[in-house]
Amino acid sequence: MKIGIIGLGFVGLSFAAVLGSKGFSVIGFDNNKKKIEKINSKKPPFFEPKLELFLKKALAKSLEISSDIRKVVKNCDFIFLTVGTPKLKSGHIDLSMLKNASKDIGTSLRYSQKKPIIVVKSTVVPGTTINTIRQIIEKSSGEKNGNGFNIVTNPEFLKEGSAIEDTLNPHLVVIGGLNKKSINRLRSFYQELYGPKIKIMITNPQTAEMIKYANNSFLATKISFINQISSLCQSIPGINIDEIADAIGVDPRIGKQFLKAGPGYGGSCLPKDLSTMIEFSSKIGTNPVLLKAVRQTNDLQIKQIVQLIEKKLKSVKNKRITILGLSFKENTDDVRESRSTELIKTLLRKNSKITVHDPMAMKNMESIFTNKITYANSLSEALKNSQCVVIMTPWKVYTKLKNSDFQKMEKKLIVDTRRILSGKNLNAEYLALGLGLN
Ligand code: UDX
Repeated sequence: MKIGIIGLGFVGLSFAAVLGSKGFSVIGFDNNKKKIEKINSKKPPFFEPKLELFLKKALAKSLEISSDIRKVVKNCDFIFLTVGTPKLKSGHIDLSMLKNASKDIGTSLRYSQKKPIIVVKSTVVPGTTINTIRQIIEKSSGEKNGNGFNIVTNPEFLKEGSAIEDTLNPHLVVIGGLNKKSINRLRSFYQELYGPKIKIMITNPQTAEMIKYANNSFLATKISFINQISSLCQSIPGINIDEIADAIGVDPRIGKQFLKAGPGYGGSCLPKDLSTMIEFSSKIGTNPVLLKAVRQTNDLQIKQIVQLIEKKLKSVKNKRITILGLSFKENTDDVRESRSTELIKTLLRKNSKITVHDPMAMKNMESIFTNKITYANSLSEALKNSQCVVIMTPWKVYTKLKNSDFQKMEKKLIVDTRRILSGKNLNAEYLALGLGLN
């Protein structure tokens, strides 16, 4: 059995590295030559914990990286589509990479004897696998689904920052197929990979596609819910959002996870998937009032942070403000849709002077803001002469901040959006989202 993986981003490369490390015979494909070179030199093109280790193991065992899609189609029994489906400026989903990959697979099928199972892992709105991807492959290959190939939807739930861990131990595998034979083959593959006890749910492609959106929309809803309660807490002296989250999380009907109040959700998935769902719902004639409110609540978090700063500094104009944490969450260098980006944009519009620091994401942020902001080489440089520091990402290094670190600030004002310093006795003015002001 040979496995092809088309698109070596977070999902594709993590999957390829895990499969290869376990000895599965894998060809990973990407059309970005620079990326291929980097991966072949055993270096992941982005930071992800444990990925480098697994990639090295995989390359030493049974992972081959290629920029030849015909080779993948000619040799592989399963072809996983893991290309990105980013958000267009209009809010619609950009299917161009997926459409191109599908066309290339179809064309390559004309030169192949294999009848592969084509597995759509990329996140797509309900109906896309059957109505778009299947049709493109049928047209370009001259073969019918169920005959020359079989198409199956298999959404991915991994999180950045724990992509390897999540790939090794998924909570669920969802298989949405059109015929029993291909469903059973993919099920057997996953049972071989994860053992016979792995939880597998079988359904049709459109339900599988919707499961992914429902999953991410619900996670976004949970975060916006706790952020809304957190905003309420802000004006009640002595109240603590984390104690509230801990208590309601004990109720098994609610659950503990995704109840951490903060600056709002960012990243390449939750904001995008929510927007896509809103667009999709409107298109099919359903008014997604709840999902719109979830997004609006998320947008309000940045306004609230700015209001907190303005309350203390009167005006932010010409004030030196330090932002700690640029990636959308800790343990990643990914700044896509990061809340810090939104905060910096808002403060720049108000003519603040911005200094930033992040253990991993400085380079990625530099490509967005170039010379409009100052990039500090160290924490002490970041805090020196600053009139306010805003903690945005809960990196471990920031949880260790102590009084001496804030000594050189011009005004000792700390705005902690994640409450990581809330237990400390700080010789500074300390404001935190979700902690009522006394
Ligand atoms: C998400 C989904 O969790 C994953 O299942 C899907 O496959 C891809 O999208 P990811 O984007 O990697 O994963 O990040 P996630 O851990 O979900 O965090 C998203 C954002 O929500 C981050 O900005 C994070 O800081 C924020 N968040 C998360 C909170 O503010 N509070 C929480 O309690 C949890």
